[in-house]
Amino acid sequence: DHLGTSAVAHPNIALIKYWGKRDELLKLPVADSLSMTLDLFPTTTTVRLAPGGVADNVTLDGVAAEGERRQRVVAFLDLVREMAGRVEPATVVTRNSVPTGAGLASSASGFAALAVAAAGAYGLDLDPTALSRLARRGSGSAARSIFGGFAIWYAGQGTGTAADLASYAEPVDVPGFDPALVIAVVNAGPKAVSSGAAMRRTVETSPLYRAWAESSRADLADMRVALRRGDLDAVGAIAERNALGMHATMLAARPAVRYLSPATVTVLDSVLSLRAAGIAAYATMDAGPNVKVLCHRADRERVAETLRAAVPDCSVFTARRGPGARLSAG
Ligand code: DP6
Repeated sequence: DHLGTSAVAHPNIALIKYWGKRDELLKLPVADSLSMTLDLFPTTTTVRLAPGGVADNVTLDGVAAEGERRQRVVAFLDLVREMAGRVEPATVVTRNSVPTGAGLASSASGFAALAVAAAGAYGLDLDPTALSRLARRGSGSAARSIFGGFAIWYAGQGTGTAADLASYAEPVDVPGFDPALVIAVVNAGPKAVSSGAAMRRTVETSPLYRAWAESSRADLADMRVALRRGDLDAVGAIAERNALGMHATMLAARPAVRYLSPATVTVLDSVLSLRAAGIAAYATMDAGPNVKVLCHRADRERVAETLRAAVPDCSVFTARRGPGARLSAG
């Protein structure tokens, strides 16, 4: 209608990482990945059709998007229009609830919300699997934010249409498992290399990449067992080694991509000290210096305090499993 269609989605943090594409256009990953959708920092997106308009109008957090940021949204809308057999341009308004400059702005929540809102606005009736495949085309990790709790994103096999159909996320049911994820934001600056560019460079130049991708398959199998058991120590240990391995592939790329900062390493040391003190705490890092620490909900205050003490000028947020993407009131 004239008010448009709105959707909300939350970021997700991968416990088994997505790092590397085998098809850039279709955003088909090299390997399966597995994540937890958070209950923090939702993105809300409204898509309103503008039948008389000449071009898409994209506003991100109150600012008109330009250049590459706008183009990525326009390309996504082109895909939706092609699927729907429609031609009208749209007005897109996106609001992120991440504290500004927290270095946590997420393309996963952004494209998951945009997929749900744009599909609604253009009259596409898509099931969650199709929405996940659509969100994937905006940003790979967005495929997982369609679902709440834990989600696995299948790489699918082969190329072309068959592979496109086979690469989607689905929920991994772990009813009793409800850990905390304590997020230490150690550096709010913009990233030096985008995750897309960094993963491309890693796949193309890192001699460690193939070995990590292979070990990641084994990590995923182990992770499924650990999750089914609700074994936080196993889940955390697997997630931590998978993330450190991913960063090792980047450090070996040519030229190297290094997202980890001195403060990152300080937080990693405090995670080790927590473990030495008998607290189950395990770290994972993405394409930036911030650290996400998985722990029991009962330990979350202690963990947060320890991270704050380790890096006094960091900001700490505590998340748990959150909901999947859905239509919203706007
Ligand atoms: C390190 O989903 O941002 O967070 O598909 O190029 O948009 P594109 O990449 P993106 O990459 C996320 C990488 C990661 C790991 C993960 O979320 O699995």
